[in-house]
Amino acid sequence: MNAIVSVTQDWGIGFDGQLLVRNRDDMRRFVDLTMGGTVIMGRRTLESFPGGPLKGRRNIVVSGRPDYDPDGVEVASSPDAALALAAGDDPDRVWLIGGASVYAALLDRCERAYVTKNDCEVTADAWFPDLDEDDAWSVESTEPGGVTADGVSFEYVTYRRVAREDAPRKPFIGSLLSHRTTRSKRA
Ligand SMILES: NC(=O)c1ccc[n+]([C@@H]2O[C@H](COP(=O)([O-])OP(=O)(O)OC[C@H]3O[C@@H](n4cnc5c(N)ncnc54)[C@H](OP(=O)(O)O)[C@@H]3O)[C@@H](O)[C@H]2O)c1
Repeated sequence: MNAIVSVTQDWGIGFDGQLLVRNRDDMRRFVDLTMGGTVIMGRRTLESFPGGPLKGRRNIVVSGRPDYDPDGVEVASSPDAALALAAGDDPDRVWLIGGASVYAALLDRCERAYVTKNDCEVTADAWFPDLDEDDAWSVESTEPGGVTADGVSFEYVTYRRVAREDAPRKPFIGSLLSHRTTRSKRA
């Protein structure tokens, strides 16, 4: 499974149930990448789509509401239940598409994260984890994007999950010393 997301400078992704940046090129790329595959999303993200479920894709929606059963989607009662529904699909064509709660729950099950970085600051109430600050992720590629109709520059950055054995670790002696320093400061 891969995640796909559009972020602002501080990794903001949404405000009041809506996206932060209007970016038509990014929308087209989103459609190209996800078309024919499976998309996993939270209930609020589905409800933010003006046209309802995404056409040409298997829509799996996470909701804890027992009576939630909109047309055109499969409802999963938890993020893990959504993964179980998608278990038989080609993992390269399963996409985690948000929002914040579902990214937070399932990002560590993703192989790659396709991040559109929009060079702007916008008030947000939903965020994606800052992958530049996370040793579990490294940049695999960066492609130029362009400039939106509103004049926002953007680029496409693909992050790859670092295999556990490749993840940077503190040298053993260093971590031992820092542990001791902390303890002696407390004493
Ligand atoms: N920039 C981007 O690329 C991007 C992409 C997607 C979304 N967004 C933005 O993100 C924001 C929405 O994010 P969000 O976090 O508020 O909502 P969300 O993740 O889309 O949906 C939240 C809902 O998912 C269900 N859910 C989540 N975790 C669950 C669990 N463990 N068990 C059962 N149900 C669970 C709940 O539905 P019930 O309440 O029905 O139980 C919950 O209210 C919006 O502003 C949207 O525009 C941005």
